[in-house]
Amino acid sequence: MKVAVLGAAGGIGQALSLLLKNGLPAGSELALYDVAPVVPGVAVDLSHIPTAVKVAGFGADDLDAALVDADIVLIPAGMPRKPGMDRADLFNVNAGIIKTLAEGIVKNCPKALVGVITNPVNGTVPIVAEVFKKAGTYDASRVFGVTTLDVIRSEAFVAELKGVDVSQVKVPVIGGHSGTTILPLLSQVEGVTFTDEEVAALTPRIQNAGTEVVNAKAGGGSATLSMGAAAARFCFSLVKGLQGESNVVDYAYVAVENGDAPYFAHPVRLGKNGVEEILSYGELSAFEQKAKEDMLETLNKDIQEGVDFMAK
Ligand SMILES: NC(=O)c1ccc[n+]([C@@H]2O[C@H](COP(=O)([O-])OP(=O)(O)OC[C@H]3O[C@@H](n4cnc5c(N)ncnc54)[C@H](O)[C@@H]3O)[C@@H](O)[C@H]2O)c1
Repeated sequence: MKVAVLGAAGGIGQALSLLLKNGLPAGSELALYDVAPVVPGVAVDLSHIPTAVKVAGFGADDLDAALVDADIVLIPAGMPRKPGMDRADLFNVNAGIIKTLAEGIVKNCPKALVGVITNPVNGTVPIVAEVFKKAGTYDASRVFGVTTLDVIRSEAFVAELKGVDVSQVKVPVIGGHSGTTILPLLSQVEGVTFTDEEVAALTPRIQNAGTEVVNAKAGGGSATLSMGAAAARFCFSLVKGLQGESNVVDYAYVAVENGDAPYFAHPVRLGKNGVEEILSYGELSAFEQKAKEDMLETLNKDIQEGVDFMAK
């Protein structure tokens, strides 16, 4: 298994790479790429951890070498939010970065499973898809927007509110990855019930949890440690699927035919080729149904921005 992390020297990249060094199957290779000159040092640092995962660092001119024959590519490269910014403000900076990195994937590992972390995920995932379409290598089952952070935050907040064992809490989260496009399905959480007031308070808390971190870091960036944990958890699901484990189900923002929007976070069954099946998210409560309908205009606009960027 070769996993490449693009943007590996950043806040998310370093946390994620640490967790992958400790958690990938023995014999795996971890390729760390970044334009920041510290990246070889990050690789040397991680290589001193005694696990059977080989780590190598690749600097600005070595994207091809980092990507060649990768099975999984995770992309946290790009600018994070500062207080007062929303994820859409990042589009102009991050769109070009994502395009360049996607072109590198086309050239070096067109069959890789690609997890996009760079915000705004609602628009960066369509950019990756459009680059692959242009090159003739697009396979919708291999491109994912990583929305796992919304899932793990929901688990943490529900356990805190209800005083239950967090390891037993599962919260489906569908839609996109920005503000009101994030839709936690609290009506489907097993073993607990919520009052209408709790739903009305917890839903926006989950939607705005990223801003809680941005404000608390006071200009120092956005979520990195929880995002590293989320991306590692998602990567391990991809790995299990690639290894042929049965019934690996996780949530991700994927291309959907005849769905609510061209891209929408769903539960997906993962296998040797990425998405084996897009699963239904089931019945929604009246509150969730309305929230879903209300978000679609924003989500479609975010998606179109990514498509238009590539059309220019
Ligand atoms: N999907 C999510 O849930 C989620 C959560 C939090 C943050 N994010 C996003 O992840 C991204 C990274 O956040 P961070 O906090 O790690 O930022 P950071 O600034 O700490 O790290 C970003 C890294 O990307 C590198 N980089 C910039 N341009 C590059 C390029 N062309 N090729 C390779 N590397 C490049 C930088 O050198 C830096 O090391 C941001 O866009 C942020 O908004 C996503």
